[in-house]
Amino acid sequence: MDTFYRVLVFIHIISAILGMGPGFILTTVVKSGKNMTELRHSYRIRHKLHIFVMVGGVLLLVTGLGMGLMHHYLFQMGWYVTSLILYLIALAIGPLVLSPRSKPVKALLASHTGEEIPEEYWRLSKVLFRYEHLENVIFLIIITLMILKPF
Ligand code: HEM
Repeated sequence: MDTFYRVLVFIHIISAILGMGPGFILTTVVKSGKNMTELRHSYRIRHKLHIFVMVGGVLLLVTGLGMGLMHHYLFQMGWYVTSLILYLIALAIGPLVLSPRSKPVKALLASHTGEEIPEEYWRLSKVLFRYEHLENVIFLIIITLMILKPF
């Protein structure tokens, strides 16, 4: 039982590194494109990095809940319940907030002709990146709660 719990902690921490690590640079990676070709390429890289975030994200939740099912007292810990709620909020922000704001950016990348990045892109991406930063802040809070377990 104890060994299985430790295996879960191990998978949890590896998932945090491989899943959340790339997550923090998803915005940075698309900020370096200077023309449409570079921009499209950076979005392709971002798409691949996002796969790590999705796999890591699912594993984080599954192992985190698994640890709670093994040690029920965790559900009485403030840091655990707060993290779980924040995590579910962050998860919901994906389809509810990020997806509708990234669709017009992707559509523009697909339809725009010429090499110069249009003004419209900066306007649309600014809104999208603002919400991505919010996601990052939520994940930073969760990581802090995980490490310090303050309450
Ligand atoms: C952004 C998402 C998350 C990240 C990056 C993350 C990261 C971490 C890290 C680095 C640790 C090791 C800290 C330590 O013990 O010193 C940890 C521990 C833990 N995490 Fe998470 N976590 C996340 C989400 C969750 C969620 C959603 C749950 C609950 C469903 C959870 C449950 C736990 C538990 C129970 C431990 C304690 C393991 C132990 O030491 O016994 N985590 N987490």
